[in-house]
Amino acid sequence: MKSIYLDHNATTPVDPIVVEAMLPYLSGVYGNASSAHNFGRDAKVALENARDAVASHINCEPSELYFTSGGTESDNIALLGTAEKYKKTKNHLMVGATEHHAVLETAEYLQNKHDFRLDIIPVNHDGFISTGAIKNLITDKTFLTSIMLANNETGTIQNLVPLVEATHAQGALFHTDAVQAIGKIKVDVKELGVDLLSLTAHKIYGPKGIGALFIKQGVRVSPLFYGGSHEKKRRPGTENIAGAVGLAKTLEIAQSRMDADHKMLTELSDYFISKVQALLPDVYLNGPVSNRIPQTVNLSFQGAEGESLLLGLDLKGVAVSSGSACTSGATEPSHVLQAMGIDKVISQGAIRFSMGRSTTKDELDYVLSVLPEVVNRLRELSPIYNK
Ligand SMILES: Cc1ncc(COP(=O)(O)O)c(C=O)c1O
Repeated sequence: MKSIYLDHNATTPVDPIVVEAMLPYLSGVYGNASSAHNFGRDAKVALENARDAVASHINCEPSELYFTSGGTESDNIALLGTAEKYKKTKNHLMVGATEHHAVLETAEYLQNKHDFRLDIIPVNHDGFISTGAIKNLITDKTFLTSIMLANNETGTIQNLVPLVEATHAQGALFHTDAVQAIGKIKVDVKELGVDLLSLTAHKIYGPKGIGALFIKQGVRVSPLFYGGSHEKKRRPGTENIAGAVGLAKTLEIAQSRMDADHKMLTELSDYFISKVQALLPDVYLNGPVSNRIPQTVNLSFQGAEGESLLLGLDLKGVAVSSGSACTSGATEPSHVLQAMGIDKVISQGAIRFSMGRSTTKDELDYVLSVLPEVVNRLRELSPIYNK
C-alpha cells in the first residue's frame, strides 16, 4: 500500500546529515558540560558552538538563547516565568485566539489557578490580529502579549511588528511562538522587536526533545525548575548536547535551502488546492491565500466530517491531520477555525495537508485520485449534505 506523509506540521523525519552531526555526541563525546575535566570541556565547547549557531540564525546574542526540550517548554517558561516575575505589579496577560495549546492552556492555568486576568485577542477570518485589537485590551497592568508568528493549522503568518509596537507602547513584553515559522521563513528577533521567542527542532527535520527560548537581555523570567545552574539557572538540568548540535545543524540546512523549499512548496500547494477545488464542489481553503506558510493547506470539505476523512485517507495510505478534538464522544471543531469565525459545520470538515521536502507531485496526484471517493462516500452518508 502507498504510504504518503502529509503531516509535516506535526513532525518531520530527522535529516540524515543532522543524525550524522549528532552521533559523536551520543557516544564518543559523552561528557557532562558542567564537568571541569577534559570530557566535560569537549561537551561544553559543542554546546556553546551550537548556541552561537542558533543565536546567529535568529540574530540574537548567544547569551540571550536558552536551550529547552522544545516548543511546549519554551512557551511555558515564557508565560509562567514572566508571570512569576511581574505578578507583584502587573496581573494581566493576553494571548491570540488561535495560539497553540502550549500557550492557551498555560495562560488559562494562570487565570484559573493564580488569579491573573486573561484576555483572548480576537482574529479576523484569515487569522490575522489588528493593532486595534491589542489597543482595545491592553492596560498598564498588562505584563505580556503572546502571539504566534505562524499558525500550525492554517499557516497564517502574522505581521508581528505593529503588534509588538502596540504592546511596547503600554510597557508590556511580547512573546512569540515561532515553532511553525523557524527554518521556513526569516526569523530575526531584532527586526521583529520581540522580547521572547520559542522555537523547536522537530518541525524542520531536526530531533524531537530539543528547542530554545530567546530571552532578550534585561527581560526578567523566573525558572520553572530548580536544582542546577545550567542555562544560567533559567533552565536547570544536564544539557542535551546531541540535541543542541542537532538543532544547530537543522537550522544551518534550513537556512541554506529556505528559498528553494519555499518556492517548491508554494508550487505544490497551489497545484494541490486548485486541483482539489476543480475535482470537488464545496471545498474551502481555511486561512489566507497569501502570507501563509505554503506547506500548510487547510481545506474544509463541506458535508464530510474531518476525523472520518482522516481515517478514510489513512486507509488509502495518506497521513493527514484534522484540527478537531474529541471531547466526551463528540467531535469539537478546531479552536483555530472557530476563532476565525468559520461556520461550525464547515470547520468540522477541515483537514490539514502539510507538505514537506520529500513531497512530490506524484504523491499529490495519488491523493487527488483517492480523495473524491473518500469525500463522496462521507457526503452520501451525511444527513445535512444534499447536493
Ligand atoms: C505552534 C506550535 N507551538 C508549540 C508546539 C509544541 O512544540 P513541541 O512539540 O516542540 O513541544 C507546536 C507543536 O505542534 C506548535 O505547532
